[in-house]
Amino acid sequence: MRILIDEEAIKLKVKELANKISEKYRGKELVVVCVLKGAFIFAADLVREIEGVDIFCDFVKASSYGMNTVSTGEVRIEYFPEIEISGKNVLIVDDILDAGYTLKKIKEEIEAKNPKSCEVCVLLDKPARRAVDIKVDYVGFEIPNEFVVGYGMDCAERYRNLKYVAIYEE
Ligand code: IMP
Ligand code: MG
Repeated sequence: MRILIDEEAIKLKVKELANKISEKYRGKELVVVCVLKGAFIFAADLVREIEGVDIFCDFVKASSYGMNTVSTGEVRIEYFPEIEISGKNVLIVDDILDAGYTLKKIKEEIEAKNPKSCEVCVLLDKPARRAVDIKVDYVGFEIPNEFVVGYGMDCAERYRNLKYVAIYEE
């Protein structure tokens, strides 16, 4: 395990992203949709740093038919937000943008509910792995094509509790 992004760097970045989001939505309502499970820690920290915005929280869970480290194009939604989305400003929050299948599917499903707006925020982006065209509005860090764990992200459900992001090595 090699630390890629330490706790302090994550904290600073979360504040920076939250400031941008606060600026954009100040005085408005925003439905934050956290993509389970990997984004739970990032989303929890992010919503607590956003200021002056009327925040609503909900979740979405999707699964792809691939294995842990390789995702396929087939994505199934297992849980969809229960709170009203149509006519609302929505921010989808995910841990990492990899091939992009998962986020693309989630964004399409949310947009099908006719939100007022729909933006995407990811902590990490692995651009080298992108297989589909997807626009993200807020990116924390671009990272190399390595498998990472920690700060919500897992390898076979382990290491989600780490305070930092590390490159997984057996
Ligand atoms: P995509 O459909 O390939 O973009 O899949 C993205 C999802 O795969 C992310 O939301 C993560 O849950 C998972 N994932 C992709 N890369 C990593 C990684 O390096 N570590 C842990 N999970 C990852
Ligand atoms: Mg995920």
